[in-house]
Amino acid sequence: MDFELKPHPKIPKAEGPLLVCVLDGFGENEVKDDYNAINIADTPCTDALKEVPGRWRTIRAHGTAVGLPTDDDMGNSEVGHNALGAGQLIDQGASLVDQALSSKSLFEGEGWKLISEAFESNTLHFIGLLSDGGVHSRTNQLFSMLKGAAEKGAKKIRVHILTDGRDVPDGSSIKFTEELEEVLKELEGSGCDAKIASGGGRMCVTMDRYEADWNIVKRGWEAHVLGEAPHTFKDAATAIKTLRKEGSEKPVSDQWLDPFVIVGEDDKPVGTIEDDDAVVIFNFRADRVIELSKALEYEEFTAFDRKRWPKTRFAGLMQYDGDLKLPTNFLVPPPAISGTSGEFMAKNKLSTFVCSETQKFGHVTFFWNGNRSGYFDESLETYVEIPSDTVPFNEIPEMKAREICEAGKEALRSGKYDQVRINFANPDMVGHTGDLQATATCCTLVDKCVKELLEVVDEMKGRFIVTSDHGNADDMAQAARACRDKKTKKPIVAEGKVVSLTSHTLAPVPFAIGGAGLPDDVKLKEGMPEAGLGNVAATLFELMGYAAPSHMLPSMIEE
Ligand code: 3PG
Ligand code: CO
Repeated sequence: MDFELKPHPKIPKAEGPLLVCVLDGFGENEVKDDYNAINIADTPCTDALKEVPGRWRTIRAHGTAVGLPTDDDMGNSEVGHNALGAGQLIDQGASLVDQALSSKSLFEGEGWKLISEAFESNTLHFIGLLSDGGVHSRTNQLFSMLKGAAEKGAKKIRVHILTDGRDVPDGSSIKFTEELEEVLKELEGSGCDAKIASGGGRMCVTMDRYEADWNIVKRGWEAHVLGEAPHTFKDAATAIKTLRKEGSEKPVSDQWLDPFVIVGEDDKPVGTIEDDDAVVIFNFRADRVIELSKALEYEEFTAFDRKRWPKTRFAGLMQYDGDLKLPTNFLVPPPAISGTSGEFMAKNKLSTFVCSETQKFGHVTFFWNGNRSGYFDESLETYVEIPSDTVPFNEIPEMKAREICEAGKEALRSGKYDQVRINFANPDMVGHTGDLQATATCCTLVDKCVKELLEVVDEMKGRFIVTSDHGNADDMAQAARACRDKKTKKPIVAEGKVVSLTSHTLAPVPFAIGGAGLPDDVKLKEGMPEAGLGNVAATLFELMGYAAPSHMLPSMIEE
């Protein structure tokens, strides 16, 4: 690949930096009602951006536009930041696993060979998120692997389930568990001893990310590996129904269920993880299983006391970190992403400052850089992570927006950076709690932060891009939107209350350009209705005064 950036034929280089500001989960939903948290928030700055002729549009952020299998798939931060940073469409984990299952290559690779060594005399464990959300995992892929393993001779299978309620409606974990039990019953019928062994809610058990709170992984380790949890049950459906505390003063949502262990008639756990067992993590997405992968794979490990470290035959559904080569063994090779905007910046000696809080830090660095950890060139890149709170985010909807804003302003003013890249986590992280008011509150604050940043961009005669990676805060009620449910636009009402929507939406996202350093005649092209997140990187180089690298999807700037 030719990495040399050539000057843009018309757009001169700016005096000041380029600000790239990602408002995570800030969709531009066509339905603007009282369940659209951005609509009810006070957002004068982002509203004003829409009014500038030729400098605002929406771009697609879901489905095939970001490399997902179908246009029914909502976008997410992983695929969104991959597309934003790489400027290319990459077949994503979900698609690659689908392909490997339909071609059966998944059952022939090295990873499968490794786990199949345990089929005869040991237990095969599956651990992962049990839902059809399609963000981290999908039940149909798990079911195909379970059936494949039993057909190929696995004698004993145990499944450790993490309940979702975040990428799918709260309460749906019961349905997914029943579906899994059906599949396991079929396997039992064919002579395989197959059971659910442990579980818990994804935000409480196992699926921490970016080392925000290792206790989450510790709780998972104790339940899945050691068979220890504060609650034991004879079956998973009862566990979930009981732990949800429905009808009580403080019901618990699927995301936050306590860890539980399933025990047999003898009250002993039915499926601890032992030496020589095989373990498969069935999530395809990396961020929330990297920590568990480390706990399973690394002999040297200090994040928490594992008490016992079984020597397992461990494979990820994918390799979750290509640089760390973690895990060593995997069932499907991950997407190869090279020639990202970050790599081009570094090879052309352009400097970058990146800042977010823990919850989204890896998104604007690792995912943005094509699933690459670390720096391309440390002398040119500064990455700042502000530690996130470890409470449910609707309790402190401000999160770390203020701190991120200040860090961004300082970096812009320093004059040291060609690009300053910021991610505000709030609209997404608070949106995932389903709390409409808290989400509106954080959108108001984020809008204020954007205003302050844009003022500094002007002061520095810089340029800016304000955009998002996918929708979330723009729809907080289930089935309130035509774009989520084509049949009805009305919110679902249960027991007199609107049922909240915790997941991302299918809405496109805003894309705004500007700044005092941007010549007046630089405008966005008309048309390009198909443009999506993958068109941002080329646009970013043009805004910096360079011709866009030719392998990237086309820029949205008028020629
Ligand atoms: C999560 O992991 O929090 C959700 O499943 C997806 O959210 P994200 O794609 O915005 O990180
Ligand atoms: Co999200």
